[in-house]
Amino acid sequence: MQIEGVIVSPTDVFCDALIVGVFDEIVEIDAMSQALGKQLTSLIDSMLRDQPECCQFGESSIIHYATEVGAKRVILMGLGKKDEFTLDKVREISAIAIRAGKKLSSKTVATVVFNCKNASLSEVTQAIVQGTVLGSYEFNHYKTDNKDNKVDKLIVVGKDLPRAAVLAQDFKEAKIIADSVNLARDLTNHPSSYMKPSQMALVARDIAIQTGLEINVMDKANMENHKMNALLSVAQGSDIPPNLITLKYNGNPQSKELIAFIGKGITFDSGGISLKPSEKMGDMKGDMAGGAAVLGAMRAIGYLQPKVNIVALIPCSENMPSGRAFKPGHVITSMSGKTIEIISTDAEGRLLLVDAITYARKIGATKIIDIATLTGACVVALGNVASGLVSNHDDWSQEILKASMQTGEKMWLMPCYEEYLSQIKSDIADLKNSGGRMAGTITAGIFIKQFVGDLPWVHIDIAGTSDRDKTKGYNLKGATGVGARTLIQLALNLAENAS
Ligand code: BES
Ligand code: MN
Ligand code: ZN
Repeated sequence: MQIEGVIVSPTDVFCDALIVGVFDEIVEIDAMSQALGKQLTSLIDSMLRDQPECCQFGESSIIHYATEVGAKRVILMGLGKKDEFTLDKVREISAIAIRAGKKLSSKTVATVVFNCKNASLSEVTQAIVQGTVLGSYEFNHYKTDNKDNKVDKLIVVGKDLPRAAVLAQDFKEAKIIADSVNLARDLTNHPSSYMKPSQMALVARDIAIQTGLEINVMDKANMENHKMNALLSVAQGSDIPPNLITLKYNGNPQSKELIAFIGKGITFDSGGISLKPSEKMGDMKGDMAGGAAVLGAMRAIGYLQPKVNIVALIPCSENMPSGRAFKPGHVITSMSGKTIEIISTDAEGRLLLVDAITYARKIGATKIIDIATLTGACVVALGNVASGLVSNHDDWSQEILKASMQTGEKMWLMPCYEEYLSQIKSDIADLKNSGGRMAGTITAGIFIKQFVGDLPWVHIDIAGTSDRDKTKGYNLKGATGVGARTLIQLALNLAENAS
């Protein structure tokens, strides 16, 4: 989709559909949507009188045959209450509006810049572009009659837009970020027949070539040299070989800080010998969503070039039952030297992650974030609304929570009391890989914590948020790409702090 800004009155722009907003209660046309001309204003006024619900948040109404307007149709978006209208709601409104435009087969859609208090003009235009690009995402890679209506062009209109150069930069940044999220969504939506560890590595190579990141892909023999037995145990049941992808971005050579982003890359989780029930097992093609979020984030970071150093590690494997598979009762010596008793082969994610963490420490990481579709317990606790955090460090978890608030990707910090540790103590090894049903998200986090040493660390459990079964706002049915925007925002914030 092409995106441009024009500094004119909204009524003067020629397009198939023009998006304008109305706030609830005050029943006023959003200030930015003003100057709509006498006729359109009175049409909207009478709509507000006849159908007051059209100004409720997320409602869209179509106004046909407005004269005195360059647009063929007007899409009137309800913005809800003025003082509850946040940047994330701008993203949601833009997503809903662009889908309304698509439904009308509009090719060129124009939008006013909504009025969002406490946000700069530049933040609002970025939110509009992100919402539009995220909200018009479709995954129809496997449809043979793929005849969907695509909007070709978004025109952002207003009389007081920033200078063209500033605007172009805002558009560019917002589009890089949203396209990167859509890449993460694609990776997650693809079936495991295509999105194998080798395919994840090809995508990573592509990103490295496009953006100039360093890349390394470890194969099974390399992993054996590093004694990554926790990762290898998970992989050994599958006929498809595992790999460990490393992408490195050096944006601040003067600094010794190296942030590690570690994403779970299970391309299919059958549960292994501790086999999952067959119902919905197909959803476990998405068990690499953490890895996808990290790849998406690295793409954006590679293009945006913030002043930070980041290493991304994505351990990729299938988890399959077979005659060669690891079994409950096995004891494994992880790369760190710590031994792990396998209670369930379905608690595989934490096994990959801890070897990747040990490797991150070996190559000099100073702070760690891991992101994973780790526990069903997180879906029970927080549903599809928020991701669960577990951390060993107040300041570092606050940084991640701050970034998550900026992006609207909701996250909630779980407690990390030492009492929980007893649940993962093993009788015959150092640790066991499952702490049972109670507090499953926390005990999974605390298992990982045993491997980070004294480095600041945050674990993000996205089991509930990485996909959804209904379209809502800028998230479509299927993969959400959650986490990518927060990781990007974090990198931008850290770069800001450094300069
Ligand atoms: N990939 C799953 C977690 C999951 C569940 C992700 C639902 C997305 C939706 C993970 O590998 C898993 O199977 N976890 C087990 C852990 C248990 C055996 C300790 C779980 O949550 O049941
Ligand atoms: Mn599992
Ligand atoms: Zn899993």
